[in-house]
Amino acid sequence: QENKSEVVVFSVPSYACQRRTTLENQNATLTDALSLLAENAELSGEDGRGVAFRRAAAVLKVLPSPVKSASQLAGLPCLGEHSLRVIKDILENGASSEVESTKESEQFKALKVLTGIFGVGAKTADRWIREGIHNLRQLRDSGHTLNRAQQAGLDHFDDIKQPVTKAEAAAIEEIVEKAVASVLPGVRVVLTGGFRRGKLTGHDVDFLITHPEEGREVGLMPKVVSWLEAQGFLLYQKTTRNSYLESKDGPGRPPSNIDRFERCLSIFKLTRMEKPAAEAPGDGAVNGVRADGQRESDELSRSEPAGAAADRRWRAVRVDLVVSPISQFAFALLGWTGSKLFERELRRWAGYEKAMSLSSHALYDNNQRKYLRASSEEDIFAHLGLEYIPPSERNA
Ligand code: CTP
Ligand code: MN
Ligand code: MN
Ligand code: MN
Repeated sequence: QENKSEVVVFSVPSYACQRRTTLENQNATLTDALSLLAENAELSGEDGRGVAFRRAAAVLKVLPSPVKSASQLAGLPCLGEHSLRVIKDILENGASSEVESTKESEQFKALKVLTGIFGVGAKTADRWIREGIHNLRQLRDSGHTLNRAQQAGLDHFDDIKQPVTKAEAAAIEEIVEKAVASVLPGVRVVLTGGFRRGKLTGHDVDFLITHPEEGREVGLMPKVVSWLEAQGFLLYQKTTRNSYLESKDGPGRPPSNIDRFERCLSIFKLTRMEKPAAEAPGDGAVNGVRADGQRESDELSRSEPAGAAADRRWRAVRVDLVVSPISQFAFALLGWTGSKLFERELRRWAGYEKAMSLSSHALYDNNQRKYLRASSEEDIFAHLGLEYIPPSERNA
């Protein structure tokens, strides 16, 4: 053997949609660090930097063993100067000073808490921070008028920041299935988002709804929402109607990242699931002190008195419902399964490598000047000249 140093050199294709990314990650310390910098960039309105860190993290996620030295990374794609510096810092010193100082920065902490409120984006959070509002207490005391979404987000803050479990997702799936079956027989409901990729928890539960007969799905959402509301399942909902036909993203135009399906962003009222006695009162926390000894978020970021949530027989869960016509279902399913980076990479691959425009509605071939039909996700990967990647391997 020529190479006596036994340094494993990795080789990885450039686009995340060319790779199989499972939930198994041999380099979690490095990818957590890069993801934190990505999050900070995104919350600061620096989307370009955010994507660069996300791409770098995604490359490390597919490496088959832990990185031991920076020399192993030579030739890997998407590792820019900045990301490499962070990686080297961690490999050599055990931590990255930039990551540690970002974690501790008041700006980052305030952005995290405020954007953790459903309905509050980075821009609103930044405006509030510049007014001296850094936490929920200060937001309440400011007397700001919140919109309906933000008020609901604030009211249910503690519940919504708790990860949703698979069991809770399954319980909500049953409710949604009952709702759609009651208003229109034959409707199909598919769990999408992170749970379809095999994640054990999520920040919400995502569903795609369709009907095998084109057109029967029109007008479905308001009926489903009315049923759910009448049964007392909704704490908040906002339905946006389908605007695809009237949209200006025609052929040749880069389709917007945001799709135009009829959708409902909601907060469900879910009856609490029984937890094994040993686990109560939840997540190993006893009297608000976590297993790691840190005090759980104090009253500054709490929306109700400590312990009050545990006394309730229900919890609030974020749920997204999307309705697609069957002719667009494969594109909608692919688009709503994620991960967000995987989706972004698919669109980038389509545009740069294939001169095609991919959205959650359609795939357009700019050379042939025609839309390409697909009745399954496999069809879409084939049109794009990509090996099929199943949902469980789209965790980029
Ligand atoms: N999505 C979208 N348009 C939006 C919001 C989300 O197309 N306005 C897509 C995203 O691209 C993603 C999927 O919906 O593919 C799920 O988004 P989200 O729920 O935010 O992320 P998850 O991957 O499900 O992660 P989590 O478990 O945290 O919910
Ligand atoms: Mn989700
Ligand atoms: Mn998410
Ligand atoms: Mn979602």
